[in-house]
Amino acid sequence: MKQIDLTTHIEAFQYDELPAEAQALIDFAKQQVHNSYADYSHFHVGAAVRLANGEIIGGSNQENAAYPSGLCAERTALFYAQAKHPDIAVTELAIAAWSNGEYTEQPVSPCGSCRQVMLEIEHRMKTPMTVYLYGTKAVYVIRSAQELVPFSFVKESLFV
Ligand code: THU
Repeated sequence: MKQIDLTTHIEAFQYDELPAEAQALIDFAKQQVHNSYADYSHFHVGAAVRLANGEIIGGSNQENAAYPSGLCAERTALFYAQAKHPDIAVTELAIAAWSNGEYTEQPVSPCGSCRQVMLEIEHRMKTPMTVYLYGTKAVYVIRSAQELVPFSFVKESLFV
């Protein structure tokens, strides 16, 4: 038996330590939480993506009485970005969450389905996506979506 260990690299920053462009993207994601429709979970999530052409696109989670019909903030923003600009890479994604009347202290961790969608876009565009996970106590920075899905199923996996 051989054990295989996979490592994820996460850089933890204080918001004030981040460059102005990263702060601006996070601020945009924070604004998006107020457009969320989260009548069931009351967990409001905002996302902001920056494209290679400099455009910023926002999204928020949109829930539904038929629970699985809802969608996370990240995929709302990413799919809109891809629908609007199918050939432009997503270079950065920021995520923030609002719960019990305040932004969460801990960075919000994207769900598995959103990670998979980030990964597909990153592979398709051959451009790393930097991910900012906002919390009031720390901001986690991950330099590539691949880091969030270390043992991943991708397009090439279909042909082996
Ligand atoms: N949610 C997101 O929008 N993004 C995440 O990264 C985690 C979870 C949403 C889905 C659902 O509307 C609510 O948060 C509670 O799970």
